[in-house]
Amino acid sequence: MIELGINLSIKQGFKIMKTSILILAAGLGTRMKSQKPKVLQELCQKSMILHILEKAYELSDDVSVVLSYQKELVEKEILSCFPKTKILEQDLQNYPGTAGALKNFKPSKEKVLILCGDMPLVESLSLKQLLEENADLTLAVFYAKDPKNYGRVLIKENRIEKIIEFKDANEEEKKINICNAGVYAISSQLLEQILPLINNNNAAKEYYLTDVVALAKDKIIKPVYVDENEFMGINDKFELSVAENLMQEKIKKHWMKQGVIFHLPHSTFIGLDVEFIGECEVYENVRIEGKSKIVNSIIKSSSVIENSIVENSDVGPLAHLRPNCEIKNTHIGNFVECKNAKLNTVKAGHLSYLGDCEIDSGTNIGCGTITCNYDGVKKHKTIIGKNVFVGSDTQFIAPVNVENDVIIAAGSSVDCNVSSGSLFINRANRKIIKDYFYKKFKK
Ligand code: UD1
Ligand code: CA
Repeated sequence: MIELGINLSIKQGFKIMKTSILILAAGLGTRMKSQKPKVLQELCQKSMILHILEKAYELSDDVSVVLSYQKELVEKEILSCFPKTKILEQDLQNYPGTAGALKNFKPSKEKVLILCGDMPLVESLSLKQLLEENADLTLAVFYAKDPKNYGRVLIKENRIEKIIEFKDANEEEKKINICNAGVYAISSQLLEQILPLINNNNAAKEYYLTDVVALAKDKIIKPVYVDENEFMGINDKFELSVAENLMQEKIKKHWMKQGVIFHLPHSTFIGLDVEFIGECEVYENVRIEGKSKIVNSIIKSSSVIENSIVENSDVGPLAHLRPNCEIKNTHIGNFVECKNAKLNTVKAGHLSYLGDCEIDSGTNIGCGTITCNYDGVKKHKTIIGKNVFVGSDTQFIAPVNVENDVIIAAGSSVDCNVSSGSLFINRANRKIIKDYFYKKFKK
């Protein structure tokens, strides 16, 4: 199971033992206009299917997913994170549609919670509400300002009469602004009775799961009103961006409530697994992703941090910490790129590449320093000790080890180890040829 750095939804602790969960993810996802299956499209760097699975497993250990289109690809993604998930296959040719998806499903528990694979923003607490209703069928519905293509829910005298799909709705019905969220909690017995009765007599010639409502007329059917944004279904790339933005807002709001300052937060991307500790400040256009951990630090404008730890430090503007950096008590200035770098109490103020290196306390890295870590075949390490003064425009030809209390003269190529206390100079010899210019150009 993926460990979220933040508790965006409630975690474990209230598994509902009597519920089987089924996630529908077999559709073609045509509106996404992509080679990639719809449920593998990502929000905040995590696929939609993993988002919903995470919420499903917070509620029950009995989770199935129906697949068809590019089944192997989606199955691989699911099982890599949730290996206990049962995978079912829909016969899309002969039984297309959301009810067709249930053809091979045999619930093992008393109740079934049916979810769609394209609703990554739902929280388990809201889903739990549906399961707590005392009804044969509970349906998540929401009021929408713009009901778009959602199925319209016809409610008469407080009773849900039926769901009318957009494609089948007349002009009057299209005006209904109560929408079907596509989430159903239904007794397994009722589901088994009704499924064989669903036909494909509609505009899309599909077997609609929404028909369960009209077919269960004599049963207790209850609507549960949910939040439109939280339950939004994502069908195309515009909706994908709207949903990602909503998720980002939620992530940043969470961290602001924990005391992090964000300047122009709408311009900043914070990954799901990023963690802030203590007093942190994040400027505009920053991107922090992976399992990065920022402790009591300032991240200035337009910096990118991937899978790295920053502690009691300031980074940027325009700095790039690539994966696996540990930056402690350090100043990283503009145009500094680090990768797999451990810096402890260091100043690297300007324009440098520090890759595969360890740099110890009191060391100053001059502008234009480059760790030449790659020989074309392998990566090598640069180790720089304490209190080293690295002059500007220095190259460290790794593997190389510079001990404590060393001065590296500006413009040097450090191509051998340097022992403590030394001055190291390695530049081309100086040559000044008087009047060379005038002779060359015959002035
Ligand atoms: C569906 C509902 C609609 C509701 C909306 C909520 C139906 C007929 N319509 O419409 O009332 O307002 O969700 O977001 O149920 N899928 C399958 N097999 C299929 C077709 C779809 O597994 O044959 C899966 C898809 O992969 C997707 C989910 O079911 O994850 C919903 O399908 P989608 O095509 O997105 O349905 P909507 O048109 O959004
Ligand atoms: Ca949908």
